[in-house]
Amino acid sequence: MTAAEETSNGNKKARPRALVVTGRLLGACMQGHWGTAALGAGLMLLGTGMSLLQPWPMKYIVNIVSTGHVPSFVHAAAREVGIIIPAVHGPLGEITVLCAALLLISLIAAGITVLSTWLLIAVGLRMVFRLRCRVFEHLQSLSPAFHDSTTVGDSLYRVTWDTYAIQAIFNEGLIPGLTAMVTLAGIAAVMIGQQWMLGAVTFAVGVLLVLFLRRIEKPTTELSLRVHENESSVSTRAEQTLGGIRTVQAFGREKHEADRFARQAAESLKFNLRLTLLQTAGQSVVGVLFALGTVAVIWLTARQVISGRLSPGDVVLMVGYIALLFKPLESLAQTASSLQGAAAGAQRVFEILDRRPNPGDGPNARQLTAPAVGDIEFRQVDFSYPTGRPVLHDINLKIPTGTSLALVGPSGAGKTTLVGLLPRFYDPTAGQVLLDGADIRSLKLESLRRQIAIVPQDPVLFDVTIGENIAYSNPHADMDEIRAAAKAAGALDFIERLPRGMDTSIGERGVMLSGGQRQRLSLARAFLKDAQIIILDEPTTGLDAQTEADLLAALRRLMFGRTTIIISHQLHTVEFVDCIAVLDQGRIVECGRHEELVESHGLYQKLHRLRTQGHPFSGAV
Ligand SMILES: Nc1ncnc2c1ncn2[C@@H]1O[C@H](COP(=O)(O)OP(=O)(O)OP(=O)(O)O)[C@@H](O)[C@H]1O
Ligand SMILES: [Mg+2]
Repeated sequence: MTAAEETSNGNKKARPRALVVTGRLLGACMQGHWGTAALGAGLMLLGTGMSLLQPWPMKYIVNIVSTGHVPSFVHAAAREVGIIIPAVHGPLGEITVLCAALLLISLIAAGITVLSTWLLIAVGLRMVFRLRCRVFEHLQSLSPAFHDSTTVGDSLYRVTWDTYAIQAIFNEGLIPGLTAMVTLAGIAAVMIGQQWMLGAVTFAVGVLLVLFLRRIEKPTTELSLRVHENESSVSTRAEQTLGGIRTVQAFGREKHEADRFARQAAESLKFNLRLTLLQTAGQSVVGVLFALGTVAVIWLTARQVISGRLSPGDVVLMVGYIALLFKPLESLAQTASSLQGAAAGAQRVFEILDRRPNPGDGPNARQLTAPAVGDIEFRQVDFSYPTGRPVLHDINLKIPTGTSLALVGPSGAGKTTLVGLLPRFYDPTAGQVLLDGADIRSLKLESLRRQIAIVPQDPVLFDVTIGENIAYSNPHADMDEIRAAAKAAGALDFIERLPRGMDTSIGERGVMLSGGQRQRLSLARAFLKDAQIIILDEPTTGLDAQTEADLLAALRRLMFGRTTIIISHQLHTVEFVDCIAVLDQGRIVECGRHEELVESHGLYQKLHRLRTQGHPFSGAV
């Protein structure tokens, strides 16, 4: 598979429906949580069931106050209380008993709610944790081609914020939605048979609600997506400006960057305000629908009280029940709104998870168990970056085991690109790269990369100690091995001059070190890896003459018996290699030993002459 073939099923244009994408994310994350989720949901239903009892004490209190009618069990309970507390007797005693019952119901319901809420939120947060780790791991498996086309800020936002979608789906969608539906069904079963009018009103309000929610689903999801995209751009802007703060300050562009940031933040604000307006207006419409339903119930019940078919307490009971019936409906409306919002985050998470790791291992990929011999061949290789024009054309190179090849040529010729094909950062668009006679695509990626040590053109260090940075290529190395690698790379002297030596923390991206020092740590890493194949992309850049000489001597020791590709603009640093390939505009224009090429009247001779004749740009072709 080539870099250009990397595809995503998470097509940005075809927006799946909120319910589909949220359901899919839920399905992907629920594994291992069903038990706790079921317990939490069961407790939540129990709490809701308790609250269904609340209108009854209210009904009896109103009837005692207005008509003096007391149910016999209330009378009996009040008599018992009167025996214990003599001051509380008669109607006051009955009302006290009913108030105490009301309080008890509320207390039990509250206790159950605390427990169930904690259980369910814990499940939601654990799912966020797992999803984050999964998205992060997946991002690491995607090719440089993907990361070239995506900003770090956007990927960060997806890992840290978009993954919260699963908590919203679970805690604000699934659980309240399920609870609401069960409650609705429960109340309907118990009461609506007796009170047809409640059923009719609830049904009418429910239908209007569904129609309304469907109407606002699309704009809500669209706006939520725009909010997420813009929020992600805000974090990208901040990340890029702060990451390049020295350049910003050196060119005095702080105001320009502040304006750019403000423009991006304003764009985000615009969509956020629109979304809030839509959601608030939506809530108001839902409120008006419920008010209409309540008014209808009051009117219909009052009519029956006037005609003597119902008691005044029944008005309170009916209003209490219609409020209970509307609560799950309201909860369903909120569920729909939360799902529409969370769908945007879920979709952005799937845009990552749906990308196939590239390059991936084929079904028959072979594991390299022993160290490779180290025979490398580029056979008729062409390459284009996914977004660009062709960069390499018909590259044919053989690098037998234990030999060294230098790649030289003008800037932009394709040298870094060519060596990037070997560890499969990209795959060729045509042709093959072979290791020990086997197409590297037929080897397990991890085992292929284990054979190669790379010193990249831009050394990357992490915010850990110097020792840990060197050991990044070989986490099992002991301190003696780390020191030996640092010594070989000419780094030990400056490391030992630091107050904490190998334990010095070097700050984010190695900012506490000079360019040359970073380069030497990167080299020490390659020394420590002890791989059969070594790729050095301008390893002597940024070094003074003495350090360069020491390093070249060390490199020659390192290269002994291994297959090495070394890229350099400083031609004198590669004169000793077995073969020099001159790359120009993506083609190999010359290939041979230094002595042959200097005589050959080609590009190499020209470059060499520029250097030896003291051209102002000598050494930097
Ligand atoms: N990630 C990328 N996406 C698209 N095009 C790229 C990418 N990286 C490099 N290129 C293009 O590929 C061509 C070769 O780049 P490459 O980095 O391989 O050159 P190079 O020979 O290593 O140059 P230098 O000596 O300056 O390091 C250039 O034209 C460059 O613009
Ligand atoms: Mg390069």
